[in-house]
Amino acid sequence: MKITFYGHASLGIQIKDINILVDPFISPNEKASHIDVNTLKADYILITHAHQDHIVDVEAIAKRTGAIVISNFEIVNHYGKLGVEGHPMNHGGKWDFEFGTVKYVNAIHTSSFPDGSYGGQPGGFVIEGEHKNIYIAGDTALTFDMKLIPLQTKLDLAILPIGDNFTMGIDDAILASDFVECDKVLGYHFDTFGYIEIDHEIAKRKFFDRDKDLMLLSIGDSIEL
Ligand code: NI
Ligand code: MN
Repeated sequence: MKITFYGHASLGIQIKDINILVDPFISPNEKASHIDVNTLKADYILITHAHQDHIVDVEAIAKRTGAIVISNFEIVNHYGKLGVEGHPMNHGGKWDFEFGTVKYVNAIHTSSFPDGSYGGQPGGFVIEGEHKNIYIAGDTALTFDMKLIPLQTKLDLAILPIGDNFTMGIDDAILASDFVECDKVLGYHFDTFGYIEIDHEIAKRKFFDRDKDLMLLSIGDSIEL
């Protein structure tokens, strides 16, 4: 499993020869100006919630690639009306896709579309694929619901928001890492705009002091699991 950071909460996940994009918000992100959204491959697009900073590039990418949107019922319905194919889910449900199993799990946040219309309830994803298991938290507060995940899934990586203000910050993300029983964390949802700028060294040090590993990838960089 290969995971690429495309800035903010945007990720590429490659499992076998299947390409998955998560929450593509790339074209408006000045920090990601070196990423050409028109060349990104996508067989599936996972969307955690309907906020602008998670969906801006979905329609264009889906229409160019024919990717299938996987998200909550309301978001899939929204893109269905635009002619985009989708697979609707809701909290607690899981489905076996060709690349692995996806479970849509709770997040504590909100989920309106940019025009204010209802975007369902926000979520995160637990993906089990190619003998590696990851948790993509989405935009969320720290929540006890995270403790449910390791009851069923031994995670190899937790992808957690760390920018604070709109989501968990560093200290809560450390507790989230305890809750999901995974000490290997990829941080996201930081530095994109003023409210969520963080000090990278302090963040890494705080995780290190708790015997945990916080990875902060440069935009466009990848890790292999
Ligand atoms: Ni959000
Ligand atoms: Mn967000």
